[in-house]
Amino acid sequence: MNPEKLLEVKRLRTHFKTETGRVTAVDDVSFHVNKGEILGIVGESGCGKSVTSQSILRLFDEKYLVKYEGEIIFKNEIDLLKLSKAQMRQARGNEISMIFQDPLSSLNPVLTIGFQIAEAIMLHENTSKEEAMAQAVEMLRLTGIPSPEKRVHDYPHQLSGGMRQRVMIAMSLACKPRLLIADEPTTALDVTIQSQILDLIEDINKRFDMGVIFITHDLGVVAELCDRVVVMYLGQIVEEADIYNLFENPKHPYTKGLIQSIPHMDGDREEELHVIAGTVPSLENVPVGCRFAPRCQFADEQCNSQAPELRGIGDGQKVRCWHAEQIAERKEEVYATS
Ligand SMILES: Nc1ncnc2c1ncn2[C@@H]1O[C@H](COP(=O)(O)OP(=O)(O)O)[C@@H](O)[C@H]1O
Ligand SMILES: [Mg+2]
Repeated sequence: MNPEKLLEVKRLRTHFKTETGRVTAVDDVSFHVNKGEILGIVGESGCGKSVTSQSILRLFDEKYLVKYEGEIIFKNEIDLLKLSKAQMRQARGNEISMIFQDPLSSLNPVLTIGFQIAEAIMLHENTSKEEAMAQAVEMLRLTGIPSPEKRVHDYPHQLSGGMRQRVMIAMSLACKPRLLIADEPTTALDVTIQSQILDLIEDINKRFDMGVIFITHDLGVVAELCDRVVVMYLGQIVEEADIYNLFENPKHPYTKGLIQSIPHMDGDREEELHVIAGTVPSLENVPVGCRFAPRCQFADEQCNSQAPELRGIGDGQKVRCWHAEQIAERKEEVYATS
């Protein structure tokens, strides 16, 4: 039986106004998340991961939006792109929740965390304030906050970064969402705390059979958490694979480069980190052919002049590269240390 699709993004394109004209931050992006699955979106900074997730809930700055097109089908029935502003507000934090890198920006500094979680509960359930407060304590307990009955009276600034992220997760769970979108939620945290938050997300994913889109620039995090992954580069998907194939049979040179850039915790500390030479070009200067060609050691005439399509190569894996098969065979390291 095919897994049930929870969210399906089809040919999403998001265009913004800039000082010099117009850029397409997300360019023809299609992917899906199955019910109860953790999908990773990975890529270097500036690849369009955040704009992709913001597009799902229409959370970008509309002042700069020029156009936003495609389809975003939730639970096989509604197209989120067609919702009115009021309907979108209802969907946000109801069936779909989002958490960000910086919980402080989403928490109100002058209200206790218990009150804020209780408010989120009361927004979606017809409960008394006392009942909502009691539920808030339970939510905090669920996210592993010690002495939650005392913590509900704390203000955001009284908590550490890791605890604040737990509060955000508790708050996002208050409405029992079917889909949680997490945009680099652990990037600002140290590794021990990061690992605890990843465990927590995995735990609630299993416990509530909740789909998760987890956005990160860190493939190490992806390896720990995700079932399936899409790799983004300059506004497009360049590879899609399940977690096994991503690491065992990566097909795109960019994916290979990202894998080689993962620091080896257990390895030789002196070992140099492999980094992909060069940087992500600006959206104002999108290469004519393959967008990755200027940084790719395998690029030839075809790559420099013709843009490859994302194509299926079996086993649910997809790649956007003219020479994926030949390159994948090569065992030697793709990139030299720079
Ligand atoms: N509101 C906006 N107006 C114009 N350009 C934007 C806006 N938001 C994001 N961008 C551009 O879109 C690109 C992708 O950004 P983003 O999705 O934040 O990348 P990532 O999350 O992968 O680091 C960047 O080049 C960024 O400058
Ligand atoms: Mg981002």
